[in-house]
Amino acid sequence: MKKVVKLLGVLMLMLCFAFTANGAEKKEKLYVGTNAEFPPFEYLEEGKVVGFDIDFINAIGEVMGKEIVVKDMSFDGLLPALQTNKVDVVVAGMTATEERKKAVNFSQPYYSANQVIILAEGNNDIKDFADLKGKKVAVMLGFTGDVVVSEMEDVKVERFNAAYAGIMALQNGKVDAVVLDSETANNYVAKNSGLKLAEGKGEAEDYAIAVKKSDAKLLEEINAAIDQIKADGTFGKIIEKHFN
Ligand code: ARG
Repeated sequence: MKKVVKLLGVLMLMLCFAFTANGAEKKEKLYVGTNAEFPPFEYLEEGKVVGFDIDFINAIGEVMGKEIVVKDMSFDGLLPALQTNKVDVVVAGMTATEERKKAVNFSQPYYSANQVIILAEGNNDIKDFADLKGKKVAVMLGFTGDVVVSEMEDVKVERFNAAYAGIMALQNGKVDAVVLDSETANNYVAKNSGLKLAEGKGEAEDYAIAVKKSDAKLLEEINAAIDQIKADGTFGKIIEKHFN
């Protein structure tokens, strides 16, 4: 009898430890870099960073058992922040380009977009990218649109730090066109009067999560988590919430 009581006591003590250990255990943090000027992927709402990418990475964090901490910064500062360990991943509607792949690894793609041309409603002489010749074209510093337009001959490129600044320049007649990712362009055209999209579209681009080259395990975990949220319907729900 004495032995049983002793055993019970030990068992209860062990249980107690297990519970306090669990309760005290803090979730590991995953630091996420983004640039919240890219609706509907990431933007500020009452000072908070929200959008598709934020719901997406939170769902991934849920699967991985990690707490997501979002850090908002300039777009061209994102990959340097990743390289210098200020963030663990970058989720920013970032296109997995060959150039960037030299510096970082990308997860499996999660969204497909292309560059489009935003025009003032009354502009009928720009139909496609070739028509940008001789025109003043706004792009955002370091975006793929910047790369595409900068490679074209005879285009006067005006670089802005954020998409809305380019849109404002277009509205004020300071530029003839803005080249931007399709989904964000749709968003600005829908929310501002007097704007439209040109018919021509650029090549398809894949958005993916950027991870440091040395973080092979993290990349694997993220890809597995994306598989899971795609399979269990979570991903579909997030798509529906932001794109319908
Ligand atoms: N897809 C484009 C790129 O990778 C634009 C991304 C802009 N994203 C942002 N969060 N500002 O260059």
